[in-house]
Amino acid sequence: MSTVPSSSERADALEHRQMRELGERVVVKSFFYHLADGERTLGPSPRGSRLLMGDDPRLPPMPEKPTLLDFFRLRFAPTQAHLLQSANLAQKNGLPEKMVLACLLHDIAVVGFIRADHGYWGAQLVEPYVDEEVSWAIRMHQALRFFPDESAGYEYPELYRTMFGEDYRPEPYIVAEYERAKKHRWYMSARMICVNDLYSFDPDMEVELDQFEDVVGRHFRQPLEGLGNDDTPASHMWRTLRRPCNAL
Ligand SMILES: [Fe+2]
Ligand SMILES: [Fe+2]
Repeated sequence: MSTVPSSSERADALEHRQMRELGERVVVKSFFYHLADGERTLGPSPRGSRLLMGDDPRLPPMPEKPTLLDFFRLRFAPTQAHLLQSANLAQKNGLPEKMVLACLLHDIAVVGFIRADHGYWGAQLVEPYVDEEVSWAIRMHQALRFFPDESAGYEYPELYRTMFGEDYRPEPYIVAEYERAKKHRWYMSARMICVNDLYSFDPDMEVELDQFEDVVGRHFRQPLEGLGNDDTPASHMWRTLRRPCNAL
């Protein structure tokens, strides 16, 4: 008789272990993460177990009134090096503080939320709290990064040839966005995000978050009640970052 557990036995064992770890709650992933795997169920777990609603014990607890820097420290920390290094470069290049903030936040969607269309998601996330030019630039870097601008010292990233293939061409909505952005008075702000975007970032280079505390303090309108507890068009996105595995 075989002693190798079947896949359903392994799935049961995993669910039991997760339930122990999570105080008898089952964690569900957002539905769209399951789509590519062919998952179609939305209801409770087959055993009728309760689903997680509230703090996820696998994640660092957050203060009741979380600030932007709390989200960096407690949610983005594993992947935030790219943001810190880009903001550091922007500072070294003498960009205005507002643009240092834009570089610090430009891939906030990638590090904390979702990669697809990340410029758009990231801009929406920070829009109520930053100067309009900052969120516009973050939104537009989504399109501009695919198009070189030699006058600004920006070439098509070599990394994209590796990641997407030599024959990759941006989709029509990206081309159209680029054409619109080129004519905009803030074009160069969005372009500066691309110029200071480190495509080959150095894993050994340490940039501390504290370096940007003053810039954030001066240019990010932190709500007193905490991000997510406030009432802006982006509050729900901060709440999702705080508790990303809530069942609903
Ligand atoms: Fe980006
Ligand atoms: Fe980036």
